[in-house]
Amino acid sequence: MTAVSIVVNGRILGAEVEPRTSVADFLRETHNLTGTHVGCEHGVCGACTLLIDGVPARSCIALAAACESADVTTIEGLEGDEITAELRDAFKREHALQCGYCTPGMLVSARDIVLRMEAPSERHIRVALSGNLCRCTGYVGIVRATQAVLAARRARGIAAIPDGGRKRLGPAGSGHAGAAAPAATRPAAALEHEAPPEEAGATAPLDFAPQAILAQSFTVEHPPDTVWAFFGRVADVAGCLTGVTLTGNPTDREAAGRMRVKVGPMVAEFNGVARIARDESTRTGEIVGSGKDKRSQSQTMGSVRYSVLQGPTAETTQVDLSIGYALTGVLAQFSRSGLVRDVATRLTAAFAANLETRLASDAAGEAAPPPQMAGEFNAGSLMMSVLVDRFRRLVAALLGRS
Ligand code: FES
Ligand code: FES
Repeated sequence: MTAVSIVVNGRILGAEVEPRTSVADFLRETHNLTGTHVGCEHGVCGACTLLIDGVPARSCIALAAACESADVTTIEGLEGDEITAELRDAFKREHALQCGYCTPGMLVSARDIVLRMEAPSERHIRVALSGNLCRCTGYVGIVRATQAVLAARRARGIAAIPDGGRKRLGPAGSGHAGAAAPAATRPAAALEHEAPPEEAGATAPLDFAPQAILAQSFTVEHPPDTVWAFFGRVADVAGCLTGVTLTGNPTDREAAGRMRVKVGPMVAEFNGVARIARDESTRTGEIVGSGKDKRSQSQTMGSVRYSVLQGPTAETTQVDLSIGYALTGVLAQFSRSGLVRDVATRLTAAFAANLETRLASDAAGEAAPPPQMAGEFNAGSLMMSVLVDRFRRLVAALLGRS
């Protein structure tokens, strides 16, 4: 079994899956998202079509394990989507469904046509929909409904978005769809004015398979209610992270920021974005982010899952962390898991200490200590001290044995 996390309809969903588990089964069997229908299970009928990184894809032949950290939008996630709402109305008007089995996949494909094709002919629409089979209604109503939405939107001056906003093409789950994924749940009109992520200096965390996952835990001397509330304040949390600076106003769901890391003489500055999810009922949350350093062409991706739990006493809180990361480029040489584990332990301890200080000053009604805006995470010296510690332990063990 493999642990996977997939961003489904803006929420990070995880499960232990077998290598052969499809995205459709991951959604239906594990998370009860049964709006994705399964017909042939061979990639032929299109009933299971959904969006992976903003691109229509067959979820019956896309493997969940290959879609780690991909952005999946199901028919449920298109509930508030403007194009889908117009298509739903048009499908009803044009009698484009009877049993409805093909309809979720059909809507996803029709939405893609409306999103990216300026003025397709009937033939083009039929070709574009040819991967979706309808066994009972036939295609006349479906094509008419798609044409009606296209005509209405173009008449309102809403232009197609070439390639649906995709910068590159690639296999489903590869992350190559770039900006298209978030578009799924936003009105297209808003999209047209959106700066592409590259221009905004941010990299969307779409394709991320952790090289390793580390478990960490710490306790703070403050009650769980206080700690949970603090974790909801993104700017305050960032202030406790050495070397991290927010570069815009964070929302509850997203934050853009910069992390400066010093490795020996080399200073890397990772600019990126993070997606934030919190579940009040279980007091758990997840932050998934990615960033790029232009100079070293290194890219880092990471996820932090946290649980806020009652500590040993009513006035203490235990925070459990599960940290996944991947590092590519020049700095990847520092990502050996043993070393990173030690560094992560120390980073977590530093975060816990900063958190404790900050919560104490909040409780005392004192002004918050200034965030560590100008600081940088000195990975080089931290790694060196880790290596020295390891060396000391090794010598002690050898001497103890002799
Ligand atoms: Fe996936 Fe038929 S069920 S294509
Ligand atoms: Fe029944 Fe299409 S509406 S298969």
